[in-house]
Amino acid sequence: MSERLTAAIPEVSALNETQQQLVEMARAFGDEHIRPFAAEWDRTKEFPHEVIRRMGELGFFGMLLPEEYDGLGLDTLTYLLVLEEIAAADGATAISMGVHNSLPTQMVLRWGSEAQKERWLKPMARGEMLAAFALSEAGAGSDAASLRCQAVKAGSGWILNGEKAWVTNGGTADVVVAMVRTDAEGARRGARGISAFIIPTDAQGYVAGKPEDKMGLRSSNTCTVTFQDLALPDDALLGGEGQGFAYAMMALDGGRLGVAAQACGIARTALAHAIRYARERTQFGRAIADFQAIQFKLADMAVQLEASRAILHVAAQRKDAGGNQQFWSSMAKLHATDMVMKVTSDAVQIFGGYGYMRDYPVERLMRDAKVTAIYEGTNEIQRIVLARELLKES
Ligand code: CAA
Repeated sequence: MSERLTAAIPEVSALNETQQQLVEMARAFGDEHIRPFAAEWDRTKEFPHEVIRRMGELGFFGMLLPEEYDGLGLDTLTYLLVLEEIAAADGATAISMGVHNSLPTQMVLRWGSEAQKERWLKPMARGEMLAAFALSEAGAGSDAASLRCQAVKAGSGWILNGEKAWVTNGGTADVVVAMVRTDAEGARRGARGISAFIIPTDAQGYVAGKPEDKMGLRSSNTCTVTFQDLALPDDALLGGEGQGFAYAMMALDGGRLGVAAQACGIARTALAHAIRYARERTQFGRAIADFQAIQFKLADMAVQLEASRAILHVAAQRKDAGGNQQFWSSMAKLHATDMVMKVTSDAVQIFGGYGYMRDYPVERLMRDAKVTAIYEGTNEIQRIVLARELLKES
């Protein structure tokens, strides 16, 4: 489907001038360079290198970075509006962009030395270096603090060993920010013994596995990353030794907003397809849009999408105002990613038998939706974070 899908898109006139320009630019870019090819990329699992390169030239990879580091210096809400546009065209392209903007670049901005920012952040902002974030391991998913990748001090540097799992951009990135245990060998001191490292992916001993064969987001690159006696200089350490877990959690507070925006983008495309199909498809001598069973579904889909957006936009404003980021980001992710599963599933239902077929677009959207409730913290973890905050004694 290459034509523009206009239902359920954010009302551009309600945005400020910068937001309008960026949203329109992202929408046009998505319509021309991403949406028409997304189904084929899904089929072939092809990572869209050329599109990512062009997005970099347009500033899509330095959205939250200040101008002094060659970024666009945007506020969180504006960035999320743009990310939703890209996700509306293709959820897989959106996650490459989202991870880069929300996680590794933010960690280097916040905790990097001036020399690290000069060396890494500027090319990341210009889109010349794609970045990844490596936290999870085969045995450390939701319980991220139990990770076992190890860095051992060796002279004026570090030697890293271990394996990271499910790393978005792991095989396509130029640089990875990885959380690695730096406490005494074999010891497990939980979150406090973990440090963050900036790792160039061309370093000897950085081995990216083959791309995972996934249910959805098939053209985004996800793989294991193995560190095999990977030697790093001292200045690869990001921020304070032993602080890496807390840094990763703080970055994920931003990343989870990106996942929520991605979910809104996928859901809005599913809704737009469902509306158009309901108008076109006739049964019992009438368009199925004439039946209340379909109308009620469409209405519920729109309400849920707008509710997710509303929570997300409040969360974005709270983030920039320095409010409680963990609570709002977990709420935004939880609502939007449960919503997108329901909305895409309802879209498949409205398409009926056709919806289940690969020739039609909505089954891909449903497959793409599923992982949003899993990565960057499962929705069970988001509920734990929310409940902890609610039950905190003041
Ligand atoms: N902000 C600041 N600090 C934080 C924080 C936050 N949001 N969350 C935790 N911390 C700090 C705590 O204050 C604590 O510090 P102290 O030791 O100084 O007290 C420390 O980190 C440990 O925190 P907890 O005791 O809360 O740690 P925990 O082991 O109980 O884990 C958890 C908490 C919420 C379950 C956490 O492990 C979690 O979020 N798990 C999910 C992991 C996750 O999101 N993985 C995503 C993988 S990355 C990915 O998917 C990217 C991709 O490529 C798409």
